[in-house]
Amino acid sequence: MIFYFSGCGNSRFIAKSISEALDERLVFIPEAERNGDYDYSLAKDGRVGFVFPIYSWCPPQLVADYVKKLHFDRQPSYVWMAVTCGDNGGYADRVFAGQLQEAGLPMHACYCFVMPNTYINMSFMGIDKPEISQRKIETAKAHLPEVIQGIRDKKPVMELKRGMFPKFKTNVIGKSFHKWVSDEPFFSTGSCISCGKCVKVCPLQNITLENGRPKWNGHCTNCDACYHYCPQHAIQFGKASKGKGQYHFPE
Ligand SMILES: Cc1cc2nc3c(=O)[nH]c(=O)nc-3n(C[C@H](O)[C@H](O)[C@H](O)COP(=O)(O)O)c2cc1C
Ligand code: SF4
Ligand code: SF4
Repeated sequence: MIFYFSGCGNSRFIAKSISEALDERLVFIPEAERNGDYDYSLAKDGRVGFVFPIYSWCPPQLVADYVKKLHFDRQPSYVWMAVTCGDNGGYADRVFAGQLQEAGLPMHACYCFVMPNTYINMSFMGIDKPEISQRKIETAKAHLPEVIQGIRDKKPVMELKRGMFPKFKTNVIGKSFHKWVSDEPFFSTGSCISCGKCVKVCPLQNITLENGRPKWNGHCTNCDACYHYCPQHAIQFGKASKGKGQYHFPE
């Protein structure tokens, strides 16, 4: 069984690829949360995996909130996480291991895929150049068979890239990140054609169309899917996204 979250498709691609290769059931965390699905049956020797993007050198808050409520009818034989990140994840693996522990679950392995960056919410951070995105996707695809084999063999792997000052980034910035997350800066420009794509792609169902224009309703995780998938590039995040490009996993 694989639980996953994704805004812009990187983590969805990884989760789906692993699920298809290992014939594991896929559960999209926001949907399971909406349905109140927290209790699951596991096959004997069943594995449990979690796939999600790194947000501010930590697991996304919605993943942490969900995992704490999870319950299985038997102990999984192998619990693994696979993260996608633009650069590095600090000590996100340790934070997640602690969150799993609260649900009585161990953590045996952490796999890592460096993929195109999606974060556009601060003025000094933007998406990768197309050739870098392309290279990251090719490297991630090439890494998949090794990860799938690792999961199949239940290997105790730790491959998260920590980056510089990981303790500071995870414990000081990362752990307070969710307090700064807000959809207030989002707005649509005159290029909006009322197509409703932003409504469809929002994993948290946080957007409604009002008079043909998107309205953000205050339950946002700043995954930036609405910004990146808009076919008109008509969504901006305050001044921070000005002049930046769009990216989503090419599906
Ligand atoms: C809110 C937010 C915070 C992020 N923080 C980090 C980070 O701390 N380190 C990093 O390397 N990438 C970071 N990224 C980049 C994403 O982790 C990366 O692009 C990921 O693959 C996106 O996954 P998705 O396409 O499944 O949504 C962040 C992206 C967002 C939207
Ligand atoms: S996706 Fe873009 S063009 Fe379509 S409704 Fe949303 S803001 Fe408007
Ligand atoms: S409103 Fe936009 S940034 Fe916020 S959760 Fe939805 S798609 Fe992601």
